[in-house]
Amino acid sequence: MTLVTTKHLMEDAYANGYAIGAFGVHNLEIMKAIIAGAEKANAPVILQTTSSTYKYIGMPYMVALAKAAAAQAKVPVALHLDHGESLENVMECLRSGYTSVMIDGSSLPFEDNIALVKRVVEVSKAVNVPVEAELGTIGGVEDDLKVDEASALFTNPEMAGRFVQETGIDSFAPAFGTAHGAYKIEPELQFDLLDQIRQATNIPLVMHGASGVPDASVKKAIGLGVSKVNFSTELKDLFANEIRSFFIDNPTENDPRKYFLPARAALTELVEQKIRMLQR
Ligand code: 13P
Ligand code: ZN
Repeated sequence: MTLVTTKHLMEDAYANGYAIGAFGVHNLEIMKAIIAGAEKANAPVILQTTSSTYKYIGMPYMVALAKAAAAQAKVPVALHLDHGESLENVMECLRSGYTSVMIDGSSLPFEDNIALVKRVVEVSKAVNVPVEAELGTIGGVEDDLKVDEASALFTNPEMAGRFVQETGIDSFAPAFGTAHGAYKIEPELQFDLLDQIRQATNIPLVMHGASGVPDASVKKAIGLGVSKVNFSTELKDLFANEIRSFFIDNPTENDPRKYFLPARAALTELVEQKIRMLQR
């Protein structure tokens, strides 16, 4: 299959009370593990990268790898820009073959965020690519994006309603208590707030910072309109830990085909388990 957009995947998930797993890709091994995990769970999957990741991999490689993955996969695969920083980022992804984009104007004043998102929606709609956007601030660290958890701001439902209506976005990422990166203490998710946001927006919601959130909380959020769940830190931690422990046991190994394999296998299992959790 060719890469699909996230539009129908998320609308189906929203209508039927489950969520699509969206996983941060950083290299070929991680991409292959994500696809293998999704195939084992027999569910569609979203590969996502920030702009710094596609710059690290190289855009032509990034898109060629994702297209090859989608062509071989037994499940639908989408390629999504995570936390796009500018219209330029989005245009680069649209030109190159991404099938879904996020524009993150959450650090801008409300009206400026709306203005930026509107421009992104205009260009993306023209090529049938759905847009995710964020209002409020999700704390923690995501690549080069750092938000002090103390200064993270919950999304205001009324503003969320206006934001969705004025921008015409396809999915909405609210701040309701999750954070990027590792949690120092268990997060207290604001489910009442999420429910109000769902009622005010009426479109598929996206949960950022799902690494370290207990399964029960993720499921509860899915029951309140979350249709895409983003995982990155847990994948990175597991991948690095597996490679570290491989080298402790095999300090002289130099064959990447050997030292990446256990990490890939562990990641496949994690992705399968996460996706199955989103379905139930
Ligand atoms: P985590 O790294 O906390 O899983 O967050 C992922 C994310 O929200 C990517 O946008
Ligand atoms: Zn995020």
